[in-house]
Amino acid sequence: MRIFLDTANLDELRKAAAWGVVDGVTTNPSLIAKEGVPMAEQVASICAIVDGPISAEVVATDVEGMIRDGREVAKIHPNIIVKCPLTRAGIQACSTLSKEAIRVNVTLCFSPAQALLAAKAGAWCVSPFVGRLDDIGLEGIGLIRDICRIYSNYGFKTQVLAASLRSPLHVVQAAEAGAHIGTMPFKVLDQMFNHPLTDKGLDQFLRDYAKAFPEGPAGQ
Ligand code: G3P
Repeated sequence: MRIFLDTANLDELRKAAAWGVVDGVTTNPSLIAKEGVPMAEQVASICAIVDGPISAEVVATDVEGMIRDGREVAKIHPNIIVKCPLTRAGIQACSTLSKEAIRVNVTLCFSPAQALLAAKAGAWCVSPFVGRLDDIGLEGIGLIRDICRIYSNYGFKTQVLAASLRSPLHVVQAAEAGAHIGTMPFKVLDQMFNHPLTDKGLDQFLRDYAKAFPEGPAGQ
């Protein structure tokens, strides 16, 4: 599973990119607004940090507006994926943009039926929101499993991008379910490193070595 960061914060992106495990970035209007820099400018800065697919969302809600915005956003950088919401207009815009070889991430997907429409419209990927389904008492990961099965039944090329992942457990469950991509906040990626036995083991190794060779690795 490819790992994307769900953030528009440049410091977080620089830090995570240096680890060498980030394959791409997803943003949404809320994340961009938090950074206080207009979308085109912020997304261009993100493209300079991470070399991989970078999702940038349109804010128009009508078909013509989404197509116009999508074409504009796609010009920012070759790595841009245009994000359209899963509405009737969004699916129509996805269909048009996809035919122009502009890659589209259909976002705000909450049901397998919606995901089927995204695939039919030629989306590059669909973004089912795991955490937001959990928030209303449903099992978000079940949606990832259902979409992966449906896409695989028919050989759809649309990738499943598990979004709204709120914990390392969500990430692992999305990978088990077969998601092609998982996008997560910086905090969740950072938490994935942690294990108390890693810390304990490393501490023991270093103490044992230092006891045997107090002078250091070169033995001088
Ligand atoms: O970018 C879309 C999605 O990942 C948002 O996550 O935690 O706000 O539901 P969340």
